[in-house]
Amino acid sequence: MWAILTAPDKRGGRWRPADFFATGAEDVARLWPEVERRLAAWSLPPPRTALDYGCGAGRIAQALAARGLQVLGRDVSPRMVELARSHNRHPDHCRYEVVGSGGGPFDLLYSGLVLQHVPPTVAEHTLAALLPELAPRGLAVVQVVTGSAAAGRLRLRLWHSLPRGIWRLAYRLRGDPQLARVPVWPLTLRRARRAIDGAGCVLREVQPNGLAGPEWRSVWLWITRPAAGREGTAG
Ligand SMILES: C[S@@+](CC[C@H](N)C(=O)[O-])C[C@H]1O[C@@H](n2cnc3c(N)ncnc32)[C@H](O)[C@@H]1O
Repeated sequence: MWAILTAPDKRGGRWRPADFFATGAEDVARLWPEVERRLAAWSLPPPRTALDYGCGAGRIAQALAARGLQVLGRDVSPRMVELARSHNRHPDHCRYEVVGSGGGPFDLLYSGLVLQHVPPTVAEHTLAALLPELAPRGLAVVQVVTGSAAAGRLRLRLWHSLPRGIWRLAYRLRGDPQLARVPVWPLTLRRARRAIDGAGCVLREVQPNGLAGPEWRSVWLWITRPAAGREGTAG
């Protein structure tokens, strides 16, 4: 679980599942008023189905299912899907599948802490492949990192120029989980917008969220799909 949600004191299997899943409930509790505000502002119906893309162990999927949504958690890693299934406390409302399965369209599409960990070409392609699953008048909220502060750029350059072993050693000496973490990849807004427009969706809002730490500019992309038969334009 540490690989999903890094915390300095949780390395080495020290996440208690209850604490780990409580972070998902907190994240969704924080996000939900933002979702509701946008549903009202953009005259969208309340979501009944949701996709948690890159669900990991199901932190967010479980919290969405607890709110009564029918949720599909999807992940590229069969190991993660297995882990998520083993912690599924809402089997009537939530199921998990490995990427490649169908299941849409979804009223709500959520993805957080996922696209920031894949190279921009893959992130753009993934977003383009994902958004067709958003139902007409559906809402997508997708977290990406759009750029880096100077420190982040330097770290990325170092990451690419140094052997991994040096990072691990530095981590051991400093106990800094940031050093051991998988690298963060920015996806420019231009690329994100290209994927969104190509999928016939509309980028309605870009909202900073600070989820990737002070080194990175992390944002929520708030995306909608127009009602069937209506063309969207990027906002
Ligand atoms: C840092 S974890 C975040 C998990 C979850 N979203 C959360 O917030 O707890 C990232 C997850 O994304 C998954 N992932 C990475 N690349 C992916 C891709 N291209 N498609 C689907 N899942 C992916 C990983 O297997 C991992 O479970």
